[in-house]
Amino acid sequence: VTLTIGIDVGGTKVAGGVVDDSGTVLAEVRRDTPADDVAKTRDIIVEVATELVTGRRIEAVGIGAAGWIDADRSTVLFAPNIAWRDEPLRDYVSSAVGLPVIVENDANVAAWAEFRYGAARAADDSMVMFTIGTGVGGGIVLGGELLRGAHGIAGELGHTLAVPDGHLCGCGRLGCIEQYASGSALVRFARAGARQEPARATALLELAGGDPEGITGRMVTSAAQAGDPVSAEAFAQLGRWLGMTMADLVQILDPQILVVGGGVVDAGELLLGPTDRSYRESLAQRGRIAVAEIHPAELGNNAGVVGAADLARRR
Ligand code: BGC
Ligand code: NA
Ligand code: ZN
Repeated sequence: VTLTIGIDVGGTKVAGGVVDDSGTVLAEVRRDTPADDVAKTRDIIVEVATELVTGRRIEAVGIGAAGWIDADRSTVLFAPNIAWRDEPLRDYVSSAVGLPVIVENDANVAAWAEFRYGAARAADDSMVMFTIGTGVGGGIVLGGELLRGAHGIAGELGHTLAVPDGHLCGCGRLGCIEQYASGSALVRFARAGARQEPARATALLELAGGDPEGITGRMVTSAAQAGDPVSAEAFAQLGRWLGMTMADLVQILDPQILVVGGGVVDAGELLLGPTDRSYRESLAQRGRIAVAEIHPAELGNNAGVVGAADLARRR
């Protein structure tokens, strides 16, 4: 067996794991991401890698990072929701741990893991995954390979236009789908609903201590599951946007399978029902031509670690 390490760098957690060639995670390390502190984040990545390498024969390290990565998989060019700007992550980590390192987009590594081992393992050619979190991430597999594009930034699906002159996005533009189909958008929808119709959001407001500003994504999920109408509507709004974007993508790529991942998937049908309805309604020639089905991601929190490690193995 050859062992590689995958490290998933998110907005709140740095998760690392030793992974074998069947995609099994053999050991794990987790740390908090120091928000907005680029130097500290770098050092925590090195700390996690060093801890996992110690006492093992490791071949390479793969890092999944929430940003736009250059074509040679070394530098984070830009991150809408983290302070990274032209961050030379690969060389820093590689010289610190003395191993080959690749840096890849966080949503790309998750998509790769779902393609190899998860919700899209039945696909032998193509899939597209949307990862819904702080941002909206995308990953595209075509011809059995992860699509990286000419400059490394293929699959940045969160920054496609949803609403002309809409909400300001972390990327600097107005109206990206990230502002309407992310976990942050879900919270915004729920807070607005709770402010406007508190009587229909009693379960949600109770979880938030009575203050709409205290509402979090987790609370929207629990309240929706308990039948809170405003929370269910927030998921329906998210699903409506997501389904429309998926229909556009099908028009462009016609993949075998579509996957939705991220914490919001825990809401199950409350999200997937509206997403699927909106998808079907938005398709041209709807119902007449066969198209990809939408599946929830299966690997949960592990997808980033497993995908990054697998891509490091194939580097
Ligand atoms: C970033 C992507 C990232 C996604 C999910 C987006 O805002 O542009 O690079 O994959 O968030 O973390
Ligand atoms: Na991507
Ligand atoms: Zn954007």
